[in-house]
Amino acid sequence: MTAASGVLDAAASAVSGGPSPLVGRDLLNLTDFTSDELRLILDRAHYVKELQKRREPHRWLEGRTLAMVFEKPSLRTRCTFEAGMTQLGGHAIDLLSEHMQMGVRETVPDVARNLDRWVDAIMARVFLHSTLETLAEYASIPVINGLSDLSHPCQILADLQTMEEHKGRGQLGGLKISYVGDGFNVTHSLIDAAGTLGLELHVATPRGYEPSDHVVSAARERGKQTDAAIHVYNDPREAAADADVIYTDSWTSMGQESERAARLAVFPPYQVNAALTGLARKDVIIMHCLPAHRGEEITDEVMDGARSVVFDQAENRLHAQKAILSLLVGS
Ligand code: CP
Ligand code: NVA
Repeated sequence: MTAASGVLDAAASAVSGGPSPLVGRDLLNLTDFTSDELRLILDRAHYVKELQKRREPHRWLEGRTLAMVFEKPSLRTRCTFEAGMTQLGGHAIDLLSEHMQMGVRETVPDVARNLDRWVDAIMARVFLHSTLETLAEYASIPVINGLSDLSHPCQILADLQTMEEHKGRGQLGGLKISYVGDGFNVTHSLIDAAGTLGLELHVATPRGYEPSDHVVSAARERGKQTDAAIHVYNDPREAAADADVIYTDSWTSMGQESERAARLAVFPPYQVNAALTGLARKDVIIMHCLPAHRGEEITDEVMDGARSVVFDQAENRLHAQKAILSLLVGS
């Protein structure tokens, strides 16, 4: 066996459940990983989905436990992490914020130092991204971001998997991917992915609701090596024109409820409706991380239409996170 074929064998083995080079790593942002590492996660996500469809066992996390912390509501993240651990042969515990009262009943570092002694990984959905950083600092086990005010990396990994299913494996670099709406956590992770993977991303938001300058400039800097093209502007029609992918998210995210009236006043031109999607390519796919506020950021007609892949995205949360869990926790 040559050294080169050994490396290739190791990579193929890592995709199909063999030893993972990512054991012990945190996933706080997609920028924590190289393009090869993101590729490995995506390849394992596709592989895990195949195994599950064929009902083949993949109980790589037998006897392992995931602690789940939710400071905000969830349907998809809670259900897919718990079902994912079960399917991998392990177990997940929802620590129920009202019982644990992280940061109130005891400090975040002390919560991390306790969980570190009992479980194999922590998945947390938090208001402040800094809470995830503190958990990661004080726990030696992997900490996975289940959404913060900065980013939503697990969502975007599932979305990249979904785009590849509809547009072809390894074809992401040739697509015009457009995001129309609020430049917040989901957008940031999409921008992170674009910079690392070399994507053409167009982001159209109302003035004052653009994504973080820091996230955009860091992605553009990484994008110099990957040929990424990251455009941020305010015209939703420019983003939609000839797009292969149109992605949107709620106009009022969790924790921003007091801003709802002000947001409803400026966001309507950014609604993903038949007029806007009509500017895109005929085979455009329409994406939304969900939950959707039907009639606000997306119409029923578009969300329930033939080009919508929103429930594929929701399904792929399960597969992508099983890939993440199995690669970070290891067997
Ligand atoms: N998309 C997403 O994270 O959904 P939940 O808020 O229901 O977890
Ligand atoms: N931007 C949304 C995403 C929900 C999955 C929020 O933070 O509420």
